[in-house]
Amino acid sequence: MSLPDNNASLLAEYGRYMLPVLSFRDIVLVRGQGSYVWDADGNQYLDLNSGQFCAVLGHSDPGVARKMQEIAQTLQDTDTSTLTRSVLLAAKQIHDRAPEMNGRILFLSTGAEAVECCLKYAKHIKEKPGVIAFDKAYHGLTHGSAAYSMSRDRIRPPVEHSYVTPAPRAHADDEVETDRCIEAFRQILGECKDDIAAAIFEPIISGGGFFFPSRRYFQAIRQICDDNGIFLVFDECQTGFGRTGSWFYYQQLGCVPDFVVSAKAMGMGYPVSCVIANGHTVPHAKFAMEYFSSHQNESYAGALVSHLIDEIEARGLLDRNRASGAYLLAKLGAIAAESSLIGNPRGQGLMCAFDLSDTGRLDSKQAGDLFCRLAQQNGLLLQHCNLGRTIRLLPNYAATEADFDFFAARLQATLARFQATLDQPL
Ligand SMILES: Cc1ncc(COP(=O)(O)O)c(C=O)c1O
Repeated sequence: MSLPDNNASLLAEYGRYMLPVLSFRDIVLVRGQGSYVWDADGNQYLDLNSGQFCAVLGHSDPGVARKMQEIAQTLQDTDTSTLTRSVLLAAKQIHDRAPEMNGRILFLSTGAEAVECCLKYAKHIKEKPGVIAFDKAYHGLTHGSAAYSMSRDRIRPPVEHSYVTPAPRAHADDEVETDRCIEAFRQILGECKDDIAAAIFEPIISGGGFFFPSRRYFQAIRQICDDNGIFLVFDECQTGFGRTGSWFYYQQLGCVPDFVVSAKAMGMGYPVSCVIANGHTVPHAKFAMEYFSSHQNESYAGALVSHLIDEIEARGLLDRNRASGAYLLAKLGAIAAESSLIGNPRGQGLMCAFDLSDTGRLDSKQAGDLFCRLAQQNGLLLQHCNLGRTIRLLPNYAATEADFDFFAARLQATLARFQATLDQPL
């Protein structure tokens, strides 16, 4: 069947077959190379979302393509209780790069699945139903993961025993804010610790507004969890596998959790996630048969994870992500210093963000939607979070300084258009 060759006709004729779970962009992508993608009209865009932060070696990476072909030509799995060589190797490689965890690893498909699976085990082992999470958390949108995310109030039926603790809103170390949030956590646990199995946190709060709780915050939380006999779970779906310049972000915080959940980068664009249980603190004998999925511990997951780990090491990507993140942040800082429309440039490795200033003309969602639409018209695919106010940038690990120079030029053009639109009468 031949399809129309332009955005408008594709969407008009075929868009109707899609379930409208989101409001989709008005373009249809047809190919990608490195940091760039092209739509059906031939327009080129710099992709700063890199496959919803998953395609970390960029689009059409030849090594990833070869690896996928090799997997398809070597082995399909037989059943979930039979392990393959590639899964065993990947588990050992992860174990060795997170030595503080002495981890036992389970490979799954998506971040939300790994969160649900991990919390199911935490509740099962502790024999308690409750979970505490940040008020500004995002852990996925399946029923179980949404129960501990910002959307918790919208799910039906509501999940009971879901507790909320305030996320530190400061961008850098703010001692007063840190103390306030540590005390709030201590107080909630004091009131209901007999109900709580685990606390789950993103070590960098991404979708909730791009906040960086301090080392001191997490070290205090670790101590309080220990004092109260509850598991500490780090959701490293975004921060894991090198994005911030270390294998896992807990390593920069000096705070070892009981579980790490990761996803996104580890599959380089294909659905791979994992649960890493701390071999020192989690009694793994209690894991039997509480979880089962057709796609768990698949050989292709193992092969992709090994490939990514090998590439990160061969190309020195941990150091590179730190350096190129600093370059991107400097560009952002220079533009923010000149513009009243944006502020608070911040980041850690290749997780960067800035805020749209409140001009009083548009609410956060309207401002975020408008800004991203204008960015797209200027050749940038960006995403907002924090109800529209924050623009986050999570480029692929191979993005170059030239890509970030391109970004800076197009951001300035976008800001000019944004200002012009705000200047028009309502
Ligand atoms: C921190 C975090 N946890 C969990 C998830 C859910 O992952 P997935 O979309 O693969 O289910 C995401 C996805 O954005 C995430 O950012």
